[in-house]
Formats: sequence, structure tokens, C-alpha cells
Amino acid sequence: MNITVIGSGYVGLVTGTCLAEVGNHVLCLDVDPAKIAMLQAGGIPIYEPGLEEMVKRNVAAGRLSFTTDVAASVAFGDIQFIAVGTPPDEDGSADLQYVLAAARNIGQHMNGYKVIVDKSTVPVGTADKVNAAIAATLAARDTSIDYSVVSNPEFLKEGAAIEDFMKPDRIVVGAGDERAIDMMRRLYAPFQRNHERILFMDVRSAELTKYAANAMLATRISFMNELANLAETLGVDIELVRKGIGSDPRIGYHFLYPGTGYGGSCFPKDVKALVATGRDNGHAMRVLTAVEAANDAQKLRLVEKVVARFGADLSGRRFALWGLAFKPNTDDMREAPSRVIVDELTRRGAQVLAFDPVAMHEASRTMADIAGFSFADDMMSPLHGADALLIATEWKAFRSPDFAELKRLLQQPLIFDGRNMYDPAWLRAQGFEYHAIGR
Ligand SMILES: NC(=O)c1ccc[n+]([C@@H]2O[C@H](COP(=O)([O-])OP(=O)(O)OC[C@H]3O[C@@H](n4cnc5c(N)ncnc54)[C@H](O)[C@@H]3O)[C@@H](O)[C@H]2O)c1
Repeated sequence: MNITVIGSGYVGLVTGTCLAEVGNHVLCLDVDPAKIAMLQAGGIPIYEPGLEEMVKRNVAAGRLSFTTDVAASVAFGDIQFIAVGTPPDEDGSADLQYVLAAARNIGQHMNGYKVIVDKSTVPVGTADKVNAAIAATLAARDTSIDYSVVSNPEFLKEGAAIEDFMKPDRIVVGAGDERAIDMMRRLYAPFQRNHERILFMDVRSAELTKYAANAMLATRISFMNELANLAETLGVDIELVRKGIGSDPRIGYHFLYPGTGYGGSCFPKDVKALVATGRDNGHAMRVLTAVEAANDAQKLRLVEKVVARFGADLSGRRFALWGLAFKPNTDDMREAPSRVIVDELTRRGAQVLAFDPVAMHEASRTMADIAGFSFADDMMSPLHGADALLIATEWKAFRSPDFAELKRLLQQPLIFDGRNMYDPAWLRAQGFEYHAIGR
């Protein structure tokens, strides 16, 4: 099939590349000329394990290419994926300006039947708006052309995006007409040779399914963070509680890790958007409002521990920070808890020297100017003479560091671990003062 992907970010680039990998011809469009120039020159604008090789392989095979030419991109694909950003508007609702601009572009240039697929995370009713935008543009052209609008929300996880796309747990497709359903079935056939993974449903249900999934996961995290904070006061180890409840199949082990709060490009904005959808439709989303409030508070949890140990005024203190990305295996810094931690430590007068295996370049775009904050070349150098080590992201490289060296380099053997990476009893036996979350 010939496929166009509109928006070549984390989702668009992975979607386009994986669809090319199974034999389709894919053209990825973006409005950002720098991004497209980089892709055309063989570069990859994001860090995603396995993506670079896959892009190169499919470009070399002539199945994957990149453009800023809107007319060419509309002409190319029988299926047009919309994978542009849907950031929060001022009131928390999803800002649909990029989705609707993409829809109008399609209406402006299409000359034959197209299936338009909303892959961006969009509120219930967006497919109707996309439909209306295309219809209005066609009407202005005085043209009538058949098309279908389908919802196909994306569930991939950054850091494991290729694996998730190539071997999805499920593929949700919201579609109303047989022609579109047939094309979507053929498109995804290579991804479900083992067993049927497509869940066909109506468009509105598909749209809500994506928000429901992210809101549920965010809820689990905030729930565990609140329990962890209580556990500290009660003298309970939350990691034992986590195993104790995770073993119940009704609960399961996933997404029960307490920490410094959820971040990233999805959970924060999707929780906000679902709260806004509730509000706009006369339903107070009480659980999700609390999930968000608990998360905002949790992002400051590690700094609260630092303040409890050193006092409110941190001037003259210097801290090493391991991890900036909102989670491991990505360079995504959107809504990363590390940002809140750095802002609060430096606001209190501390100096922070940070290391992240891949996100420092991305972080430098928004954090380079923070007074008192700087980046280190390797993971051990920030420890030299630092008052303590703080951990904000659970990168594999941090799992088993040379603790003797840590002890030698730090001013005192003191760790504030926002990701519960180490065994508290063992660390204390090695002479460390260890502050984790809920332990
Ligand atoms: N990042 C994730 O892990 C993830 C997972 C599932 C779903 N989603 C959803 O997918 C959507 C995209 O997210 P992302 O993280 O890939 O965003 P992103 O910001 O990385 O990429 C969006 C891209 O769209 C481009 N763009 C904007 N308007 C355009 C237009 N009119 N035509 C062509 N290109 C345009 C931007 O320049 C940008 O490169 C969002 O709705 C998000 O909620 C993201």
C-alpha cells in the first residue's frame, strides 16, 4: 500500500518506519523543515532504540521517504495517517489546531478516495471535526470526493516503540464503513499473523479507549505514590507491598512503581484532557483530578527529602543528579520530573550537576540557561565533592554502580533515590545514608 504519515515525531516516524518495514511504501510529511532535512540526510531527530537502523534499511530499500511538500504527500497515500501533536490548550483540553490543519490540507489537495486515520490522541468527537474540516475544504473547492475518517489510537511506549508497534497487544480501530474497515484490516494483516489483534469498534469508543488507557495507568502511579508516602510514615516498605498486591492477577505487577511522579508527553496532557472532556460534558472527573494533584505534589517529593535533611536554604550545596529523561530509553524531556527537581533545588540556591545517557542534548534546549545547573560528561564526574546523589530516572547504567567509588567521591555517602533502584538494607550496611520512596 501507499501510505502517508502526517507528522514525523515519536509516533509518526515509528508508525511510518514500521509500516515500511512490512513492505508498504511510506511518505512521511512534517512542517518542520529542519526535521525533514535531517531525516533526508540520514539522521534521526529522536532517540528510540532500534529506530535508526530500521529507518536506514527502509530508506535504502526505497520504501520510506520524507517531505515537506503537502500536495505531494496528499497525492501519495491511499491511507493518510494524522500523527501530529495534540498539546494541552490553556484550559487543559487537547489543542486540535495541528490535527485540523492536517485535515484541511488533505481536503485541499485530494483527488481520489482516501482513508484518513486519526492516530494522534484526540478527544471524542474529533473524527467528526476532521470529517467536517475536509468536507468544508472540498465544498470550497466545489468538489465531491469520497473519503472515510477512522480512529486508530496509538499505544506504543517510547523506549520500546518498535517492539510495541511490530507486536502490538491490540490494535484499536474505530471505523464506520466497510471500505475503510477492509483497508485497515489489510494494512494491519502483517502485524497479526499469530492471532487476531484488531478490535474494531465505533469511532467515538476508539477515541475514548486511548484516554481511558492512559488515565488508568496514571491512576495506578498516583495511587502507589500516595501509598508510598504513607508507608514512610508507618514504617512500611512499599516495595514489599507492591509485590504483595501485584501478585494478585486482578491487579498485576505493571505500573505499580512509586517514584517522583509520572511525566512524558502523554499521561500529563491526556489526564488533563479527559478531565476537560468530563467538565465540558457535565461530569466532574473526581478520581482523575486527584490523580493529577497527587502527581504534581509527587514531583517535589525528592526535594522535600533533601530539604528535610539539609534545611530550606540550599545555597552553597552541590548535588549530583542522575537521569533527566522522564523515563529510561528515551530522550523525551516533556513534563519530566527532573525539570521540577532542578528548578526547585536551584531556586533554593543549590548547584546541580546532571548526567543522562541520552537526554542531555534534548534537555539543553530548555534547561541550559538555568542558573546553578549544568551537564556532566559522564556519570561519575558530578559526584566529586557533591553533598549527595539524587536519582530521577532509572537508566540501566545506574542499576549497579561502583558504590565504593561513589562513597569515595561524594562529600558524604548520601543518596536520594527517586526510583527505588537499590536495596536499602545492603546500602546502609555499606555505610550509605539512603532515602528512597516509600521505604
Ligand atoms: N509520544 C508517545 O509516546 C505517544 C504515544 C501514543 C500516542 N501519542 C500521541 O501521538 C501524537 C503525536 O505525538 P508525538 O509524541 O509523536 O509528537 P511530536 O511532537 O514528537 O511530533 C509531532 C510532529 O507533527 C509535526 N506537525 C505538526 N503539525 C503538522 C502538520 N500540519 N503537518 C505535518 N506535520 C505537522 C510537528 O512538526 C512534529 O514533528 C499526540 O497526539 C500524542 O498524544 C504519543
